[in-house]
Amino acid sequence: MSDNNLDIENIRREWRDRLLILGHHYQSPDVLRHADVIGDSLELARKAAASNAERILFCGVHFMAESADILTTPAQSVYMPEPGAGCPMASMADDTQVEKAWTFLNQQGDAWLPIVYVNSTARIKAFCGRAGGSACTSSNAPKVFQWALDQKKKIFFLPDIHLGINSAHDLGIPDEHTAIYDYQKPNGGLTPEALKNVRVLVWGGYCPIHVNFTVADVQAARASWPEARIIVHPETPKEIVRMVDAHGSTAQIIKYVQAAPAGSTIVIGTESQLVKRLAEEHKGRLTIKMLKGSFCPNMAKTNEQNLVRILRDWPDRNCIRVPSLLIPDARLCLERMLAL
Ligand code: 13P
Ligand code: SF4
Repeated sequence: MSDNNLDIENIRREWRDRLLILGHHYQSPDVLRHADVIGDSLELARKAAASNAERILFCGVHFMAESADILTTPAQSVYMPEPGAGCPMASMADDTQVEKAWTFLNQQGDAWLPIVYVNSTARIKAFCGRAGGSACTSSNAPKVFQWALDQKKKIFFLPDIHLGINSAHDLGIPDEHTAIYDYQKPNGGLTPEALKNVRVLVWGGYCPIHVNFTVADVQAARASWPEARIIVHPETPKEIVRMVDAHGSTAQIIKYVQAAPAGSTIVIGTESQLVKRLAEEHKGRLTIKMLKGSFCPNMAKTNEQNLVRILRDWPDRNCIRVPSLLIPDARLCLERMLAL
């Protein structure tokens, strides 16, 4: 056993249930073997909310640790092994731009409800909570969309263009009733007339890892493995999602693989670390291929070295504290999702 491993085990024994280590599916096996819970964004948010641990160590990216801080009590602390692990998509929705967009939409006479992907900052979640909206993850986006549509509201979804368009399509909403809010243009590049027909308006953010997948990648996979089934994450552009066999969150991809009949081939379009892990876990039973290698460099910022360092020293810079002013509204936004 390596020194790091031994140290981590000793520290964990000392802390027992006063410490909870959460690990997202995109983390490396070296990190995940120390996690109490491995999950997708939804599962990890639920586990943080239900935890009484004094300290939660979040192995993932910044917005996930922020959500854990929002959902826990002031007596609990949330840490990250590397607080510089951000999500570029979350940085694509700035609260001043979002507030401006919201004012513009509400001047048009229709009733709107914001839905924010958890891959967003605490400020955006607070805006959403104040405006009566809810968070969602890639596991439950269509369900949260339905909740808004049942209230006869138009949906303002942010920040991921692709999860927004794919979720609307999952609910049978035709593309003509969706539109993109281009945050680099005044009023999102939209006129009041263009908005009349819109039921789902999506912010123009995206995940650099999932927009790597192309139609040509799917065609090449079909040519190489004609019998294979292909599944992608819904942060992938609609052209690809609509030509493959299935799409789903990280947890849904894992379930899909687990349910596949022995001997079958599955091609997966998501972050490579998860695909590598699934290929290893199902070796001999299934053939698992990457649609294309696509690593999230931010997820990779957490490793066994910074994990052991934080467990030894608990430096203050690694503690994630959402400003207390934002917490009540951001909490409302997350709790509305968790209640659905
Ligand atoms: P999941 O909610 O599917 O785990 O996805 C989180 C994420 O960041 C995907 O890029
Ligand atoms: Fe953000 Fe994409 Fe990395 Fe997920 S995979 S954390 S959405 S950059």
